[in-house]
Amino acid sequence: MGKALFVTGTGTDVGKTYVTGLLVKRLKDAGLDAGYYKAALSGAEPDGKGHLIPGDAAWVKQVAGLSDPLEDLVTYVYREAVSPHLAARHTGVPVEMERIRTDFNRAKEHHAYLTMEGSGGILCPLCWDDRQELLLENVIQGLDLGCVIVADAGLGTINSTVLTVEYLRSRTIPVRGIFFNHWIPGDSMQEDNRAMVERLTGVPVLAFIQQGDTEMDIKIEELIKLYR
Ligand SMILES: Nc1ncnc2c1ncn2[C@@H]1O[C@H](COP(=O)(O)OP(=O)(O)O)[C@@H](O)[C@H]1O
Ligand SMILES: [Mg+2]
Repeated sequence: MGKALFVTGTGTDVGKTYVTGLLVKRLKDAGLDAGYYKAALSGAEPDGKGHLIPGDAAWVKQVAGLSDPLEDLVTYVYREAVSPHLAARHTGVPVEMERIRTDFNRAKEHHAYLTMEGSGGILCPLCWDDRQELLLENVIQGLDLGCVIVADAGLGTINSTVLTVEYLRSRTIPVRGIFFNHWIPGDSMQEDNRAMVERLTGVPVLAFIQQGDTEMDIKIEELIKLYR
């Protein structure tokens, strides 16, 4: 059974997939057995042959050079670009915790270091109907995972990152680190964002990812410590 880490973000489009791709690649480049898993993906493009392409998984698979088949990497794939609970309601295929647990455990059995990407930000309903109410945080708790947060390094990040950390803490989910995306070296506001976020949360910013980066600058010993 391998170790795992959950990647959440301060919002959708903040760069969770991009950063996760580099993270998984960093592990693989160090010779480690790394895998990727995502419970629910919405906004998938059709491939023209009657299937939907899980874009996030395809990206990470390509960047990190994963050999796993795409269908093993994501459990629920919806075409509509809306929250999974709404996409699920429209398609009649609800997200179920037990299926996620089964797929997650299988992925964790196959890989020494499994990185699980969230959907949206930290407050994301996965299922909301008469029978079941499931939020992303219930999945993180149910799988007993700790988190790292991907945040934009720019304007507004003090608010969104500190709120995300506080929310996770209110749910007793461990927060192990922050990744600053779209980092501009030497930008004094971004440097201050880093200092303020670290000061206000006590959580370290572990790596800084610039536009177009193809590698992540982080010590492998520091990275593997995040996986439990
Ligand atoms: N550091 C970066 N350099 C270049 N493009 C990036 C970077 N971070 C994110 N992107 C691009 O921004 C878009 C949103 O990022 P993505 O990782 O898909 O966000 P999320 O997974 O949080 O929704 C994607 O097109 C992605 O390729
Ligand atoms: Mg993504």
